[in-house]
Parts: sequence; C-alpha cells; structure tokens
Amino acid sequence: MKKLFALLLAVTMTLALGACSSGNTPSSPAGSPAPSAPDPGAKKVTVGIIQLMEHPSLDEIRGAITARLAEKAAENGLAIEVSYQNGQGDTTTINTICQQFVASKVDVIVAIATPAAQGAAAAAQSSGIPVVFSAVTDPVAAGLVESLEAPGGSVTGTSDAIPVEKIFALADELTPGVGSYGLIYNTSEDNSLSVIAQVKAYLDGKQIPYTDGAITSSADVQTSARNLLGKCDAIFAPIDNTVASAMGVLADEAIQAKKPVYVAADSMVADGGLATVGVNYTNLGSQTADMVLKILTGTPAGEIPVEVLRDNAVVINGNTAAAIGVDVSKYGPGDADIISSVA
Ligand code: TRP
Repeated sequence: MKKLFALLLAVTMTLALGACSSGNTPSSPAGSPAPSAPDPGAKKVTVGIIQLMEHPSLDEIRGAITARLAEKAAENGLAIEVSYQNGQGDTTTINTICQQFVASKVDVIVAIATPAAQGAAAAAQSSGIPVVFSAVTDPVAAGLVESLEAPGGSVTGTSDAIPVEKIFALADELTPGVGSYGLIYNTSEDNSLSVIAQVKAYLDGKQIPYTDGAITSSADVQTSARNLLGKCDAIFAPIDNTVASAMGVLADEAIQAKKPVYVAADSMVADGGLATVGVNYTNLGSQTADMVLKILTGTPAGEIPVEVLRDNAVVINGNTAAAIGVDVSKYGPGDADIISSVA
C-alpha cells in the first residue's frame, strides 16, 4: 500500500511538473496547494534523477525531491522537467544512465544513495554538470567530496549520518544484555562499510563479540540471516540498500528466531526490524531539492556545503516487539514513534 502510494505520488508529481510547461493551469483537488501558474518567461531546465534501486526509503526521498521541485519551480523562475531513471542496483546500468544524462546535457544530476552518486560523479566529472547527491551516509569516505564544509568541484548534497552510539544505547534499553551481534551488510556499499567500521569500534570498546554476515546481493539475505541468528543474540543492519531491499525476509527470520534486529533507517523498522534512531527522509529529500534549486538559480555546487541531517528520532515496530516479547510500554508518544506495520 505504501509502495502504491509512493508510486501514485511520483506519477502525480511528474504530471504536476509537466504542467509547468503546458499553457493552462490544471485544477487542483481541494486541500492541496494549487500549482503556481506557468510563467511563459520561466527558464526551461532538466534535472536527471538516478536512484540506485527502488526500496521504500529511496522512493520516499525521490517523492520528496520531485514534490519540492514542483512546488518551488515557479517562484524560482524555472520550468523544471524531471527525468527519472532507476539503476536496478547495478553499477553498469547506473554508469550507462549517468553517461546518457551527460550526453543529453541535463542541467543537474540528482543521485539517490551512495553507489548512484559515485556513478554520477564519475560520469559528470569532465562535463562540469553539477551533481547533487541525496542520502549519502559518508560522502568523504565514498570519495565524493574532500570536505563537507567546502566541497569544491561540482558535487554537493545531503547526508544521513548514522548515530551508531544512540542506536546501541536504544538496543541496551530495549534488550539489555545482548551478548553478541551479527552484522549483515553488502561489502560493496561504502555507506555500509563506514557504519560497520564505527559499529565494530563501538562493540570492541564494550568487549561485545560480533560475527560478520557479509552479503553480495539481496538473494543472500536469508542464508546470512539464518547463519547469524544461529550464532548471535541480535542482528544489526547498517544503512545498507541491499539489505533494505530484502528487509522483510530478514525480519521474518528474526521474528521466527525471537531475536531483535536493530537497523539504521525508519523504513527498515516499518518493514519489520525492531528499532532504530534515524533521520526523516522526507525532510532529507526536500533539503536535497532546495540545493538543486540554488544551483539552478546560479550558485556553484562546490560553494554549497554538504548538509548532514541530525534530527534523529527513535522508531520502534510495536508488532515486532510483541512478536519477540520485548516490552515497549515505557515509551510514550514523545519518546518514540511506535509503528505497527508487519513484515
Ligand atoms: N544512506 C544510504 C546510502 O548512502 C541510502 C539510504 C537512504 C538507505 N535511506 C536508506 C539505505 C534506507 C538503506 C535503508 O547509500
């Protein structure tokens, strides 16, 4: 249902964006903001969006980006055409799409998630076409910018830095005494490697043992989950796109084993993980779009600092908690967002 809603939203936004360049003002349903009247003098620009793959969080981000661009185009004197492409989680596909964006001279490339951003930055490098990345966990480790404050070059964007210590503090509250963690992640995602390095340092410091469950595709999630659940008290999944795309499988296995899975994004809680402390990806998408608008109205990308979101909130899956016997009654509405979707 959520997927369907995201899809409908995306389609609606495309229509709304398209309407900017048509001659008449479309009627808008009551309650939603009326699209601003198209300005015949508006500058026509094209934004190419490359999204690593489709999973709920990345879809939410893209929905927020296109909604904000549609909302703000007219007041910035722009008629924005958005070209959206899905990278299918495949490096070759991503590179081809980004090369096509460069060949067709889009005005800005927006790249959602780390591997998409790496492909876009490489493809756009010599063209000077600005790249705005979205939800890149560690832009410096990913080789996208040298510094967050002063990116230089023609690449900037938003980052969903992961509050590792807060997630493990929450884990200690919800399931005290976890004796060992299984770590499930795709070794080819730099976003995951950055978080896993922090997690290992944290667990080493607490002398809590862990087992690596490295995977290379979403098809590996079930086998790795079963292996880790057989050996460890709990699982931690970083902000990993491959795991997120098979989160339901991981959640089902953990619920059967009656063990908690701590994750790094609210969408992975919605898909059955027990809990996280994370950022709001709709806000992240809107902020990404604002950076795109700045660039389209004349600010060089390299002069715009990377925006790292830090508005963390606790998110717990009430159904998962009940299924594995974890008490969440002490969390009031102000302490945590208790959601009740099922995997
Ligand atoms: N931060 C991830 C990256 O750098 C992308 C991402 C955003 C993500 N939301 C997510 C990954 C939710 C997994 C789950 O690639």
